[in-house]
Amino acid sequence: MYKLAGKLCTAEAVAAMRGAFAHYPSHPLTKLLYDPYAYRFCSFPFNLVFFFPPLTIPVFKFYYRKLMLCASSLFIRSYKAEKWLDQYIEEHNMDQCVLVAAGYDTFSARRKDLVDQLQVFEVDLPNVQKKKREVMVQVLADKSVTERIHYVGADLSKVSLLEALTTSDAFDQQKPAFFSMLGLSYYLQKDVFYDVLKNFSKDFAVGSVLAVDVLLTDESLAHEHLQYKRHIMDFVSALGEPMVFETNLDELKDKVAEFGLKVVESRLMNDMAGELGLQNDPSSQKCCYAFVLFENISSDVK
Ligand SMILES: C[S@@+](CC[C@H](N)C(=O)[O-])C[C@H]1O[C@@H](n2cnc3c(N)ncnc32)[C@H](O)[C@@H]1O
Repeated sequence: MYKLAGKLCTAEAVAAMRGAFAHYPSHPLTKLLYDPYAYRFCSFPFNLVFFFPPLTIPVFKFYYRKLMLCASSLFIRSYKAEKWLDQYIEEHNMDQCVLVAAGYDTFSARRKDLVDQLQVFEVDLPNVQKKKREVMVQVLADKSVTERIHYVGADLSKVSLLEALTTSDAFDQQKPAFFSMLGLSYYLQKDVFYDVLKNFSKDFAVGSVLAVDVLLTDESLAHEHLQYKRHIMDFVSALGEPMVFETNLDELKDKVAEFGLKVVESRLMNDMAGELGLQNDPSSQKCCYAFVLFENISSDVK
């Protein structure tokens, strides 16, 4: 799938979706997550469409209809991860937050209320981080905030998360941290994904938590979700980022127990959509993902 000019990547696709919904403040998805900065990461054709708000969603529904199938999962996953982060700051005084594969998520601008209490580490590919830093420096004029944000450029298929994070002096490996890894697991090979979890247990402090969204296997989905899963897989595959890993919650729980990780909470995104009052949103009925929060309970993993 090509955008009107040039090739779209998944990080920009997420930003475009957020940019589009930002024009509809009363939409239930915008109420979960309002991102007035996302458009800055979008190229001119998207911004042209955003310039005429009554046309934005109709154009997206027609031209980017496969992307629209992901809409609710993109909003729910970030909303839920930020709720968990709120909770861990309040109940566990957590003051380090690591956004793995942060993409163009504008968390540090949208959630200045949380960032004031955190050191934020954003890890993504070096070219993505370069653009991210350039734009965010303009968005976040407030120096006291920018000093708390650390942009780490790393290819996680080549270096471990710990190696990436320790390039920043600000990261304290001995302290528990909140990690989120949204929109990445299904692009990793199975062994790479499980290595990430195993290293999370081995390398980071006990008490650290990790929020991850995973693609569910066909067997764990209702029949009516399967065609949407295929559409979404075709869409990202055409962007050059094929989804290669899927799992089910039982397999995941068994596997992570071997690594000294505990599943604190696991939810099907469809169920969460219902609880958040999104049952009438078309994309909410098509979620083929689950959302899991892991906690590191053992430092004994070799
Ligand atoms: C779909 S975007 C998710 C963005 C953001 N987390 C969100 O939920 O909106 C996937 C991100 O994973 C990043 N990514 C893919 N492979 C990676 C790798 N090997 N190392 C680091 N980042 C990677 C991409 O650059 C992209 O920004």
